[in-house]
Amino acid sequence: MKDITVRVFRFDPENDEKPHFQTYSASVSDGARVLHALHAIHNEHDPTLSYRYCCGSGQCGSCAVRVNGEPVLACMEEARDGMTVEPLDLPIVKDLVVDMGPYLDSLHALVPAPEFRMPTPDEVEEIKPLRSCIECLACVSACPALKVIDFAGPTAMRQELRLQLDPRDQQDRVTEAVGEGLFTCTSCQACWKVCPKDIQLPGKAIEKLRALANKKGLTLPRHQDVAQLVKETGRSVVRTETSFLEQIPEVLEPYGEVKGTVGFFVGCMYNQRLPQTALDAMEVLRRNGIRVIIPKEQVCCGSPLIRTGQVDFLDTLKRRNIDAFVFRNIDTVLTMCAGCGSTLKHDYKTPFKVMDINEVLTKYGIEPPARLPLKATYHDPCHLLRGQGIKNQPRELITQVVDLIEMPAICCGSGGGVKSGVPDEAAALGEKRREEIKKTGADIVISSCPFCEYHIRDHSDIPVKNVTTVLLEGYREKDRKAKEQKPC
Ligand code: SF4
Ligand code: SF4
Ligand code: FES
Repeated sequence: MKDITVRVFRFDPENDEKPHFQTYSASVSDGARVLHALHAIHNEHDPTLSYRYCCGSGQCGSCAVRVNGEPVLACMEEARDGMTVEPLDLPIVKDLVVDMGPYLDSLHALVPAPEFRMPTPDEVEEIKPLRSCIECLACVSACPALKVIDFAGPTAMRQELRLQLDPRDQQDRVTEAVGEGLFTCTSCQACWKVCPKDIQLPGKAIEKLRALANKKGLTLPRHQDVAQLVKETGRSVVRTETSFLEQIPEVLEPYGEVKGTVGFFVGCMYNQRLPQTALDAMEVLRRNGIRVIIPKEQVCCGSPLIRTGQVDFLDTLKRRNIDAFVFRNIDTVLTMCAGCGSTLKHDYKTPFKVMDINEVLTKYGIEPPARLPLKATYHDPCHLLRGQGIKNQPRELITQVVDLIEMPAICCGSGGGVKSGVPDEAAALGEKRREEIKKTGADIVISSCPFCEYHIRDHSDIPVKNVTTVLLEGYREKDRKAKEQKPC
């Protein structure tokens, strides 16, 4: 047995004016779960503590709570000393018990057609992963979209696709899903990452529903415009200045010894809208011994089409991009757009390795830059943090130049076609980002994705910079100081 300290959310709407946290010491055995700690607190300290559970084995979904801000099943999550336990982000009944009823009641049930056939074995296989939901609502608690706009939420979308794929159901679930906010999902992947059953809600439910919506002509007009632009120009955004690819030779040699060679996939945003940021990154790579090969015939990765369900043109883009690097015998392709990186890693079958720039720089190691007298906060791009599992590498780089103040990793609202298709929602999420940035008191916001950087600029009172731009500023400061110290 060991004693652990647990901070627990308490709120009894009938007697308390407002919620508060209470800290308890609980005696639990090694390997105890959060639920065991709650039992210990309930039995040893306070029998009025309310929490919900049933199976105790990850099957019923009734015990979901937030531990240190992350939705988890209390019966499966290990109890740790110093943890904070809160209810899911849903209406509170008492303490850790939330009102799941209205949400669960809103999930549609199968409406049998007068004449129907049973699903084929292939259809059963397709439906199976969508049926493993235990209705814990962890995904609903984590979803940023439904907090700012009318959206039925991730597991409701899963249920819509599950019914759509079932030949016994008679309703048009695709049109229904569009009416329930199908196009408000930002593809942030927060729902998938907290799902105890590992249901890939954005990719396996929402994007599939969007592809079916596309076949019915229900794609949002603004998303159709983007697809048309990609077909006509190979790019998903119109360029606002001379593009990166027009400014750069095909091969960039490093300034010193060659430590590695990569091909660079620039992506539409850095090529067309933020070329200077990509140029900054090239300087940092050259300074750190990386030779960069930049095929000029590369085009959009197709992410804006995949996320919005417009996949008919995708193979053409994939072939062109893969060929561009294969013809040059490139074995590692570097991305600096989180969305492109995630797409090349997960939606392509590439004969080469794909690495984000933060991975490449930390793998080879960087020359230490000068420290800048700035406090910075870091915005985790969804497609880098959750899409590629890259959390520590940008922090490792940033802390070599500036002091870092952490803030919660929330979606800024720019992904999933939401910025173009549902701009009010993107702006509302951007404002939530602004509030968190403000709380840090930082001088600058650093990120590592052009969509986030572009969007947060409109929702921040302080400058927004890319990781590599800040590194370059550190190198320039270092060079300036070295020059000052040189005797005339
Ligand atoms: S991907 Fe993000 S926005 Fe979309 S349903 Fe999941 S949590 Fe909500
Ligand atoms: S989809 Fe996953 S997280 Fe959402 S309710 Fe079902 S089991 Fe829970
Ligand atoms: S008590 Fe059933 S899933 Fe946790």
